[in-house]
Amino acid sequence: MAATMSDDRWAEVDRYIAEQFAPSDPVLDAVRTSSLDAGLPEIQVSPVQGKLLELFVRLLRARRVLEIGTLGGYSAIWMARALPPDGRLVTLELEPRHAEVARRNFERAGLSSRIELIVGPALESLEAMARTPPPAFDLTFIDADKKGYPDYFDRAVSLTRPGGLIVIDNVVRGGAVTDPLSPLESVQGVRRLNERMAQEPMVSAVEIQTVGAKGYDGFALAWRRGP
Ligand code: SAH
Ligand code: DHB
Ligand code: MG
Repeated sequence: MAATMSDDRWAEVDRYIAEQFAPSDPVLDAVRTSSLDAGLPEIQVSPVQGKLLELFVRLLRARRVLEIGTLGGYSAIWMARALPPDGRLVTLELEPRHAEVARRNFERAGLSSRIELIVGPALESLEAMARTPPPAFDLTFIDADKKGYPDYFDRAVSLTRPGGLIVIDNVVRGGAVTDPLSPLESVQGVRRLNERMAQEPMVSAVEIQTVGAKGYDGFALAWRRGP
């Protein structure tokens, strides 16, 4: 989508909000610079979204968090910092190159003992988890390839505890999500996710549109019903 005046204003207000509520620090700065230096795409959550994820971890009193899509570890660090010392975040990443950057960042953040990074296609890792079920997760954050979203959502419903939360990034995509004829796999992935999530009796879900440093997009929130 073409840049507009509103995009600039959104980014400016996002910076203003971030300065006050989600200030950076040496670790988060190092995550950004190490990811840039390694040539990773700049698609991590924004600082304000990172802070929102942190608040979800705190609200849920989460001890176990599952993340699908690690990149350089930016969102994982926001969430893992809010875990108790014996808490655990499991994060799934396809690209060994991304995982390597993330691993260094987890060490830099002093969070290596709290974070388990599993390298490989997320669906395979999730299927392996389904075969030997781990303790349920309080929060699952889905942020990998959008084509895989419907499958990741199904697995997340099984792996997240009743009363837990599934958060999904990038569900609006500049508004493209409303186009049933979109040729983009990512848009079709999100549309299939939405059909499934809206009908899934095990969750109560909604989506919220967002604007900011990352343009116009949205978060899905799915509360896992129990038991
Ligand atoms: N959550 C991160 C950003 C993730 S970007 C943050 O906010 O900091 C999406 C990531 O998903 C990329 O690193 C990409 O390599 C990874 N990915 C893409 N397809 C995947 C798959 N099939 N399995 C696991 N990870 C995948
Ligand atoms: C893309 C992926 C993301 O997870 C995101 O937040 C923004 C962009 C992408 O693949 O373009
Ligand atoms: Mg994303």
